[in-house]
Amino acid sequence: METVLSGIRSTGHLHLGNYFGALKNYIKMQDEYNCFFFIADLHSLTTHPHPDDFHSGVKTILTEYLASGLDPHKSAIFVQSDVPEIVELYVLLNMIAYKGELERTASFKEKIRKHPENVNAGLLTYPVLMAADILIHRANKVPVGKDQEQHLEIARLLARRFNNMYNAEVFPEPQAFNFGKDLVKVPGLDGSGKMGKSEGNGIYLFDDEKSIHKKVMKAVTDAGPTEPDSKMPEAVENLFTLLKIVSEPEVVQHFTAAYNNCSIRYGDLKKQLAADICRHTLPIKAKIEEIGRDDAFLRSVIKEGTEKARASASATLTEVKRAVGFRSF
Ligand code: ADP
Ligand code: TRP
Repeated sequence: METVLSGIRSTGHLHLGNYFGALKNYIKMQDEYNCFFFIADLHSLTTHPHPDDFHSGVKTILTEYLASGLDPHKSAIFVQSDVPEIVELYVLLNMIAYKGELERTASFKEKIRKHPENVNAGLLTYPVLMAADILIHRANKVPVGKDQEQHLEIARLLARRFNNMYNAEVFPEPQAFNFGKDLVKVPGLDGSGKMGKSEGNGIYLFDDEKSIHKKVMKAVTDAGPTEPDSKMPEAVENLFTLLKIVSEPEVVQHFTAAYNNCSIRYGDLKKQLAADICRHTLPIKAKIEEIGRDDAFLRSVIKEGTEKARASASATLTEVKRAVGFRSF
């Protein structure tokens, strides 16, 4: 069975884009692959979160992933910093990662541009730590967004370089997971682009009914079509894209027909859209609250996940160290 692995940054709350664009696919994968899902808390340290917020960020993401349907018995769910083997592999990979190639990554250049006051070495070697996350479990497939493809390329490069240098087939080359037709892009409700944390246009799994309605009712539209079958402006098309994701096909058909014969009332469309979003998210919100109060459950999830992850990681590290030439006295 192939191994799938994904790391999740421990910042903020999950929005509809994360849920429909990533998580729903992860949930399906759990039955078909040997899955590892972990919270990349070490990676989040590059931006120096306040110690008082650090743990609660991890807990929030863990709780929201579990509430959305990640199953701790099917997958290994763990926190990066609980698996010291990752850090050990990170040190070893740093020895074969070159400064020039790390400096050339788009994400590093963007960080320099945006935060010239905090160009730390952790930022430069961010892709090496990510390669360690992936290679320590000898993952074959990594579901990542477009922004992470270059990092995955570095993981492949380091895997190849290690295998060649030590003349050992320790690491497979991890490939991006291709969701094909299952890949959806969730648009924002502000007229253009995608829904995202940094875009500040998110509808969160954690939002209550009232705020979801409020956010949807505020969505950008236009004055409405004046000619039958006219082309939709992007903002209106985005509403329909969301409707297709959350509503029944008859509902989509109804509003499409209303748009095409110019009888559409955006207020009705938005009410329906908000209600259908709530149908998906409110049960998850209830679970988030329930799980968030159950520290014993969270502890048991992490215990089980850490055990699975460390067993897999230490098996790899033993081979790695043998290849590098470590011997015990
Ligand atoms: P954020 O926008 O919250 O920073 P991330 O970039 O951390 O999201 O992405 C986490 C996962 O969610 C990735 O797999 C990414 O492809 C997916 N994702 C994020 N936003 C969207 C979206 N609007 N539509 C589809 N998938 C998304
Ligand atoms: N860098 C990823 C992001 O920003 C998170 C991440 C860390 C990751 N380690 C990983 C993703 C390993 C996939 C595999 O979203």
